[in-house]
Amino acid sequence: MKFFIDTANLDEIKEAKKMGILDGVTTNPSLIAKESIYNKNDIYKHYISICNILGKKNSKNVSAEIVSVDYLDMVQEGEEISSLHPKIVVKIPATENGIKTIKYLSKKNIKTNCTLIFSSGQALLAAKSGSYYVSPFLGRLDDISQNGLDLIKEIKTIYSLYRFDTKIIAASIRHPLHIIECAKIGIDAITSPRNIISNLINHPLTKIGLEKFLKDYKKKIRN
Ligand code: G3P
Repeated sequence: MKFFIDTANLDEIKEAKKMGILDGVTTNPSLIAKESIYNKNDIYKHYISICNILGKKNSKNVSAEIVSVDYLDMVQEGEEISSLHPKIVVKIPATENGIKTIKYLSKKNIKTNCTLIFSSGQALLAAKSGSYYVSPFLGRLDDISQNGLDLIKEIKTIYSLYRFDTKIIAASIRHPLHIIECAKIGIDAITSPRNIISNLINHPLTKIGLEKFLKDYKKKIRN
C-alpha cells in the first residue's frame, strides 16, 4: 500500500519523509493557495522543490493539479507541468474535458491522476482514458452522508473485473480508520494529511507499556 502525503507544505513533506514510509506527495490548488506563493513561476518552482525533497527514487511521485478548464488549455498546462520534473504526475479533474485531456496525455506517456472522483462512472471513464491514478474523495462523500468507502469498493470491483491498470488513491482521508478500511480491501494507495498518518502509530497502551519497560529496566540495570 502506497502512502502519499496530501500537502504542499515543504516542511511537512520533509518531516513526513523522515518517517521513511513516504511514497509521494499529492497537492491540489487549495493546498497550493495555503503556501506563500503568488505567481505561476513560483508555483512551478515549488513543485520542483517538492520533487527534490523526495530524492532520486523513481518510484516516488508528486501529483500537481492543472487549473485550466478548456480542453486545449488543459492539454497545454498538463504538458507544461509534466515537463517540470520526471516525478510529476498531472492531476486532472473528472470532467469531460478532463477525460479528453487524460486520453491525450496518456497517449504521450504522461502520467495522470484523475481527481475529484465522486462516482464509479467517473472512475470508469478515467480508467478507459488511460489515467494512471484515480483519486476518489472518501471524506467529502462521508461529509454529505454518502458512504465514501462503498464508492472505493465499487471502483475496485469494476477495475478488477476489467483488469484496468489504473491505480486507486483513496483521497480526502479524515481519520486513521479510513486508512485501515482501505487497507482491508487492498486499495493501492492513500493520500492523507501528516497528522492522520502519525495517528496510525500512536496507541495509549504502547505509550504506557514502553514507559513501564524503561522504568523496570532502569531500576535493575546500570550503565
Ligand atoms: O487532495 C485531494 C483530497 O485529498 C482533498 O481532501 O480533506 O480537502 O477533502 P479534503
